[in-house]
Amino acid sequence: MSERQPPGLEYATVLTQVDLFTGLDRVTLAKLAAHLEVVPVDAGSAVVHQGGPGDAFYLVVKGTFGVYVAADGDESCVNTLGPGAPFGEMALLSGRPRSATVRAETAAEVLRLERSRFLDLVRREPQVGLALAGTLCERLRRAQVPGDDTTEAVSSDSDVPAPPILMPAPRPSRRPNLGTLGLAVAAVVILVTWLTPSPPGLTRAGWRAVGTLVAAVPILALDAMPEGILALSLAAAWVLGGVAPVNVALSGFASTSWVLLVSVLAMGAAIAASGLLYRIALWIVAHSPGGYMGQLAALSVGGVLVGPAVPNATGRVTLIAPALRELVEALGYAPGSRQAAGLAMATLIGFGQLVGVFLTSSTTALLVFAVLPADTRRDLSWLTWATRALPTSVILVAGLIAAVIWLYRPRGAERVARPRPGALELQRALLGPPSRAEQLSLLAATWLVFGFVTQPWHRIEPGWIAALALGALALTGVVNAETLRSVNWSFVLLFGTLASLSSVFTTAAVDRWVAGAVSASVRGLAGTPVVFVGALTLLCFAVSLVLRWQAAAPLLTIALGPVAAAAGISPFIVGLVTLIACNGFFLPYQSTTYLALYHGTGGGLFTHRQARLAALAYGVSTLVALCASVPVWRAMGLL
Ligand code: CMP
Repeated sequence: MSERQPPGLEYATVLTQVDLFTGLDRVTLAKLAAHLEVVPVDAGSAVVHQGGPGDAFYLVVKGTFGVYVAADGDESCVNTLGPGAPFGEMALLSGRPRSATVRAETAAEVLRLERSRFLDLVRREPQVGLALAGTLCERLRRAQVPGDDTTEAVSSDSDVPAPPILMPAPRPSRRPNLGTLGLAVAAVVILVTWLTPSPPGLTRAGWRAVGTLVAAVPILALDAMPEGILALSLAAAWVLGGVAPVNVALSGFASTSWVLLVSVLAMGAAIAASGLLYRIALWIVAHSPGGYMGQLAALSVGGVLVGPAVPNATGRVTLIAPALRELVEALGYAPGSRQAAGLAMATLIGFGQLVGVFLTSSTTALLVFAVLPADTRRDLSWLTWATRALPTSVILVAGLIAAVIWLYRPRGAERVARPRPGALELQRALLGPPSRAEQLSLLAATWLVFGFVTQPWHRIEPGWIAALALGALALTGVVNAETLRSVNWSFVLLFGTLASLSSVFTTAAVDRWVAGAVSASVRGLAGTPVVFVGALTLLCFAVSLVLRWQAAAPLLTIALGPVAAAAGISPFIVGLVTLIACNGFFLPYQSTTYLALYHGTGGGLFTHRQARLAALAYGVSTLVALCASVPVWRAMGLL
């Protein structure tokens, strides 16, 4: 066997004609091609050896191979394989050693698929399993030799370990003991807050509201129950515990941001299924210079630039998440690898975290703007916002891109798993020209962005723009019942309940209580601007652990804006600090944007543990960027 080369365009035709893959659609076949390696084989060389370990599956592309079985010192040729024939599947499916030696009769070429990828393919694509079963039956029929070693190797034997393909697919890790612990802690918190008198200044309903929220933390953090069920349980607790009436407890579900989320999630699923995002992902890869580092930077900067056009950070992340998954697959990175996690974090930073760069970079920025004192708002335009935020934005963007590149750089063996340029060309060839579904998806996505950008003129809420686009896609058949089934409804339920949270807190007067407590403790710091900015940032980190970013940022701005103004600090600074510093994702439940990325990419692209590094980097960069901006703001007369 000589050295490996990347597959090229000519394999597109071969792959589409192989019996084994006839049932696969072009997008699945293109994704599979990302993992195939072309292996040239010299005449007389063996690709697999009888008795050897099963490490990969092969497909003959060129030449002829002989299948040799050795018994009692004699080797005999039991079959000949030509182009299109698969081999090497038996050891992978049975968990036994290679049943035969497969040797090239002429100069030849095979496509190699690594073991775990092959098993993954058979699990996900029933047609491939059926085609393989057909091949095996045919071989068995031809062999027709009673007592033949090859056939006996897969017979039932009580000592034989279960074939890997029959083992259940790995489940997302659930920790039953920790889950029970989470539920127990939650129960104790509920009991304590519901049975004890409320602290001074807080109503009974407010105390219970705080209790239910604190109780939800261990449940979410320890994955104790599906989040959709937790969401409904929270709403039930609010209503039954007299914390808020039903219309308030469910107000998040009656908001246009919930409509936006559902519409964009369904559209995202349809767009991803059409193959359009996959095509775009391939385009990004083909056109971003500088390899892995270039891709990280391109994703982050791309996200910041898309920001002002699509103000909903969660919506942005939700739209890009399926594309990211495709991108990682196209590059040939394994889910859970450092590269996959790095690309995901670069996307999160660009699309979800840099929310204060422009006034329209997030709906929360607009909310914070709306709660600033009238005279502060008067000298703030879209341009002045961008200028005043510029020092922080520059440090944050540069710091975070550098941090992600450093933290998620490939190490050791992972360095080998680099994308193969030939594989990308092959995938593009397999995709062929854009289909009708892709064209319609592109049209709908363009309409969506155009509708969002022009919102100041037509004043139609983004939720309705997205709902109309979804309706249009359903009329053309691009969105169907199958599409809706692929939406993560558990997350949709959680989002609705979290979106209700600020109304629940207002009704139970928790917001005023928090504001009162916070104002008193921070007033003393306002004399020294750097200390004030640093302390406020740390306070935001703490508050964001119990209050959602979308609620915490405006709430703290309302509470502290006037306190800062009295000490000669512009309330804009307070708004910007809370906007950026409350948007952490130290714990997964904290951020709907983070959750949208995690679930939108299928939940297995990166682990929460991997993301924690980026979350810490976000915390440190935020603190540094905000404190370092103080001298510039002083020069601007804001401090
Ligand atoms: P595996 O046992 O993994 O490695 C050797 C491969 O040779 C085996 O999988 C089959 O793919 C192939 N093979 C074994 N026996 C035959 C046969 N009788 N006819 C064709 N191919 C065979």
